[in-house]
Amino acid sequence: MEPHFSLWPEVASKHAANIDYLFIFLCVVSIIMTAGIFVTVFWFAMKYRRRSPDEIPPYIHGSWKLETAWSVLPFLVMLVMFGWGVKLYFDAYTSPPNALDVYVVGKQWMWKVQYPEGQQEINELHVPAGRPIKLTMASEDVIHSFFIPELRIKRDVVPGYFNSISFTATKPGRYHLFCAEYCGTQHSGMVGWVTVMDPAEYENWLASGGTGSMASQGEKLFQQLGCSTCHLLDQQGRCPVLRNVYGSPVKLDDGRTVIADDAYIRESVLDPNAKIVAGFKPDIMPTFQGQISEEGMMQLIAYIKSLTGPPRPPIGAADTGQTYGGGRFGGPGTPENSNAGATAPAPIGPTPITERPQPPRTSPERNR
Ligand code: CUA
Repeated sequence: MEPHFSLWPEVASKHAANIDYLFIFLCVVSIIMTAGIFVTVFWFAMKYRRRSPDEIPPYIHGSWKLETAWSVLPFLVMLVMFGWGVKLYFDAYTSPPNALDVYVVGKQWMWKVQYPEGQQEINELHVPAGRPIKLTMASEDVIHSFFIPELRIKRDVVPGYFNSISFTATKPGRYHLFCAEYCGTQHSGMVGWVTVMDPAEYENWLASGGTGSMASQGEKLFQQLGCSTCHLLDQQGRCPVLRNVYGSPVKLDDGRTVIADDAYIRESVLDPNAKIVAGFKPDIMPTFQGQISEEGMMQLIAYIKSLTGPPRPPIGAADTGQTYGGGRFGGPGTPENSNAGATAPAPIGPTPITERPQPPRTSPERNR
């Protein structure tokens, strides 16, 4: 972009113009209110000034009409600001179901970006124009703030949580990306570029690299961390079955029901006893705090998200011939009766008990 002077950054996303209108509205209202108050102060100071040392001013009764007007009118103006702001807030902070997912991790001092298809980059973000994008964001260390002025998006990235924001870029181009929260020595260097591309160009870009999809990287982690020992994909192991769990309600042993979203899965990995699934005992699962990076967590979640469809034989089942005790027949096995599985040596699933045809080897969790 050529350097140029302008009051506003370019308008490059769908909601950008609306945010500008709200901003202009706030400025205009503030100017009118400030001017109105100061003009009145000076006018009254002149009009009601003391004209002689012994002047006694007349007694003035209040006016309920005036008081009501100056209370109700500003209140209505404030409500407009509130309603307008809320609408824009929800536009930016809730994402449409067809949004493309992109995952961002802030880290002293860089932005690491990964795509479900497997691309990874640092201080660069590529998105197609005209499609809603959902950024899921986390921090590896301290609070950062992800800020793209031209897209009018800014969201703090807080350690310990996933945050998300969504936007639809409208104008292909290259825009500055900033960290907008002081995060240490090189905070000012925590900058990068966002490239908004034509959809066709974006498809080419996506196809041009990558080291296996996020789901397949997550599957590797699932094996490495030993999750697959207890979370069998299609039969009850010592721990809950994870297929089709993403996005669906989970009944807890305290009677509550929660939705298995990113935050729930993240918490269950790091603090397994926080929410115990109904029918399971606490302390069966160890915490993985400190053993998995935020990026890895995102991959793991992408893997769990990819576990959809009807039950299939677990990964590697055909090669190992291992059998676990309790949940062998896929019934509602309890942790007690499946504890036999705890001693199974291989972190790989059991022999499938299945009448279903073998799925094609292209399914996400077989894509190794
Ligand atoms: Cu990261 Cu400032």
